[in-house]
Amino acid sequence: MRLMRVQVPEFRVLKNVDISFEPEYVPQVFPLGSLNGGGKSTLLQLIFVLLHCSAHQERHQFISNMLEHIGIPEGEISKRLAKFELLDGDEKIELEFTLCNDAYLRQLDIDPIFNKDMVSFDIFIKENELLSERTSLKDKLKQRFFSDILHGNEVVLTAEEQAESIEHDIEAIDKKIKINQPLISNISENLILKKQCHITTYACNGRAIGLLCHSSGLRKLVNDVKDTLTAASKKVFLTAPATQVYLFLNNTAKKSLFKKLNDKKSWSWRGAYDAKLNEAKKNLPNFLTYDIFAIDAVVALIEEARNQDFKALADTGTSGNSYQIIIEELNLLTLDKKIRLQFDENATIIGINFQTNDGIDIYPEDLSHGELKRLSIYVWLKFLSKDENIVLMDEIESGFHPDWQRHIVDDLVEWEASNQYILATHSYELCRGITPAHVKELPPNLLS
Ligand SMILES: Nc1ncnc2c1ncn2[C@@H]1O[C@H](COP(=O)(O)OP(=O)(O)OP(=O)(O)O)[C@@H](O)[C@H]1O
Ligand SMILES: [Mg+2]
Repeated sequence: MRLMRVQVPEFRVLKNVDISFEPEYVPQVFPLGSLNGGGKSTLLQLIFVLLHCSAHQERHQFISNMLEHIGIPEGEISKRLAKFELLDGDEKIELEFTLCNDAYLRQLDIDPIFNKDMVSFDIFIKENELLSERTSLKDKLKQRFFSDILHGNEVVLTAEEQAESIEHDIEAIDKKIKINQPLISNISENLILKKQCHITTYACNGRAIGLLCHSSGLRKLVNDVKDTLTAASKKVFLTAPATQVYLFLNNTAKKSLFKKLNDKKSWSWRGAYDAKLNEAKKNLPNFLTYDIFAIDAVVALIEEARNQDFKALADTGTSGNSYQIIIEELNLLTLDKKIRLQFDENATIIGINFQTNDGIDIYPEDLSHGELKRLSIYVWLKFLSKDENIVLMDEIESGFHPDWQRHIVDDLVEWEASNQYILATHSYELCRGITPAHVKELPPNLLS
């Protein structure tokens, strides 16, 4: 999949953004420049969150966090959030994300049996709250950790009574869900008639706002939009430094980045933010921070290459060269150090280290920040499916010597050529690795 064009009329610092990433350009690497605070990270995160999270309900919390303060101007019923032109194989697909308020819903052809005041996006928020309450009560029942509640020696509530009371609460929730269902179905049917796919609903200043998505292309129905969003969710990746403010985290998490921990004497903080970021990663499989360098992942890559060579030997009588290629690539990453594998007595790889030209052993924990970052990106890209992904990379050059910055474009293409790369950067050296037409800018224009 390719991102061909992104338009964002207004979102936080972004104003009238309209950037094309031409699919015919070779290579598919597009540096994205701007001043500090120009909106590069905001744009990459908006693209990632809308395309990676829309099709998956468990990721909708990240969309709600991202849009938290984004309202609809007074007197209006909707606001266009972003429009994407994607290329999936030979097919060009336009996805338009729009924010709508209750006035938008009330001008649809909703069945008059429903009271107009009840026709609100709020019903979706209530529905979600009821469903999550139901899930947590069901979990409680499943765990069955109840014991009799005593007052002195007297039993005031038996374990059975507690379980019964929870079952009773679940029944009450089910009733409420049932009551809301006809209106929810009627609103959804009307949105489908408008070819609008309801993604999620969030609250902004106490008002419910719906995020809708539709495809302006011919014959695109809601199910086609859903299919495209599901496909896009697997194809879009984001990587950035762990120190970044991630707009898709909730407010408490974002604020924790700026709070010192209790110890007054030391400059220790971030613990809470890191924990929240890690929690988020569990639901965002296509998100990586550069600080991750997993030895297990390198070992798995090497084992996979070895297995491929063995398969080639079994199939053709001649061993392949996958192992050799991966070792050569890894050796190039750390320049003057060569990778060494550690085996157990059964020839199973149990770890890796490096050796300098002078024969000094270097362990992963001895490597420099830049070396580790480069290894981390390499291993991550090797693990992605080799299938035309859209890879958004923020602050890619930080920590790299200008010589390495100059080679970033070539390295990325060499490591995985089928991907499209969009690189938020301040690096002139990086941009020298590509033609000026590849370089995209957010205003105010830097080149001029
Ligand atoms: N609601 C808002 N309206 C307008 N501007 C906002 C809003 N919220 C944040 N900003 C501005 O957006 C900017 C943050 O943008 P972003 O982090 O995307 O920039 P960047 O191009 O990635 O910068 P850098 O190169 O420093 O990383 C800040 O300058 C901030 O003041
Ligand atoms: Mg930034």
